[in-house]
Amino acid sequence: MGCSRSNGPAPDTSLGGGPSVYLSDNFAPVTEEVTLTELEVIGSIPRELNGRFLRNGPNPLGDTDAESYHWFIGDGMVHGLRFEDGRADWYRNRWVRSEGLVDALGESIDGRSLMGSPNTNIIAHGGRTWAIVESGAPPAEMTYELDTLGTTPGWGRYTAHPKFDPDTGELHTLAYDWASLRDHIQYVVMDANAQEIKRVNIPMQGMTMIHDMSLTKNYVVIFDLPVTVSFAALGLGADFPFRWDNDHEPRVGLLLRNGSPADIVWSSISPNYAYHPMNAYEDESGNVVIDICRYDKMFEQDTNGPFGDSDPRLDRWTINPRERRVTEEIVDERPQEFPRIHPDLNSKPYRYGYTVGLGEKSFPAIYKQDMHTGVATSFEVGPARHSAEPVFVPREGAEAEDDGYLMTCVFDEQRQASEFIILDAQDLARGPLAQAMLPVRVPFGFHGNWVPDSTA
Ligand SMILES: [Fe+2]
Repeated sequence: MGCSRSNGPAPDTSLGGGPSVYLSDNFAPVTEEVTLTELEVIGSIPRELNGRFLRNGPNPLGDTDAESYHWFIGDGMVHGLRFEDGRADWYRNRWVRSEGLVDALGESIDGRSLMGSPNTNIIAHGGRTWAIVESGAPPAEMTYELDTLGTTPGWGRYTAHPKFDPDTGELHTLAYDWASLRDHIQYVVMDANAQEIKRVNIPMQGMTMIHDMSLTKNYVVIFDLPVTVSFAALGLGADFPFRWDNDHEPRVGLLLRNGSPADIVWSSISPNYAYHPMNAYEDESGNVVIDICRYDKMFEQDTNGPFGDSDPRLDRWTINPRERRVTEEIVDERPQEFPRIHPDLNSKPYRYGYTVGLGEKSFPAIYKQDMHTGVATSFEVGPARHSAEPVFVPREGAEAEDDGYLMTCVFDEQRQASEFIILDAQDLARGPLAQAMLPVRVPFGFHGNWVPDSTA
């Protein structure tokens, strides 16, 4: 990956800024699906961890045009590691089947439709598992062993980042689809049994890339930031048409959970793009506090992926809804992404967040952010080794917010192979409690989750 800034003279609306770097090194796709059992483990896997650590990411099948390839559009491939009773029971990687993939792989499939190959996240809800993506393809339901069942009947568009409400068990989502919705997005709520219970159309100006959202006690937070569909890029046949848009007013909206879109409170914010909020909540004054990884620019010069135009830092945005004013503060200037928190504190006041530190063509560290003290600690994964999104898993019976584990996937350049590691979230310096070693690579990808067998 490239984190250095490019200095080209003019915004690039071409098919790409040259050959994509997102097909080389550990961005390169793997070419085989494998099933491995009884993996070698260094250290000791906590015996209470019974379930699957799942992750999704792009892994294009077959020949790919490096001039036009965008990291966000590759065929989805899910990776899963099952832990049981202190053992690394199995590892599997599987493409998320689309109709095209089934044809290319020479397979046939009966039953459900296969619309697209969601490549961005994999979640479990209501005892079922889905690979998901924004803008277009509906969720693909997966089996426990990560085979594709297909589109779930009755489910339409979705998002890569549904927000879990720990009080109700609901999933709240903002869905957009530039090709079909065009002038609105949709606020959709699924109940604890994965049944849709609400769908509200929200009119929008322009076709903005709304990758994620936030949820607070009373609000749904809409990030309407200046990365929009470029008709110039579409005219040139770009597969991924989003570009930086100086003409789009950046703003953040607060929609009351049970309110009308006509009553959204919009507040202007400085030009930026953000994929991922760490968390959001309402403080004692009724202000909305949002911690978020913020980029100065996105898809202006580097149009093949997210890391070329600017580096993401950790910000705190505080919205005063009465004055429609946002106060922006820098929390940590170091480049970092893929923020995660304790899953039961989404939408609530919290203290700890976890991110991946970004370096020059590297993901060298996991950061733990103490949002009360402002102190960050870190775990360096080692020379020529790269980390990924850190997923926090509470320890059984934990009382402290950070009493639990961080799970992530590490790529080792020397071995040209990956491992899944488990860290003690209260003591990152201690190093991995366990490393489950793979003989194969897990390419750099996006998001995943720990799914305990008790909920599968
Ligand atoms: Fe994301």
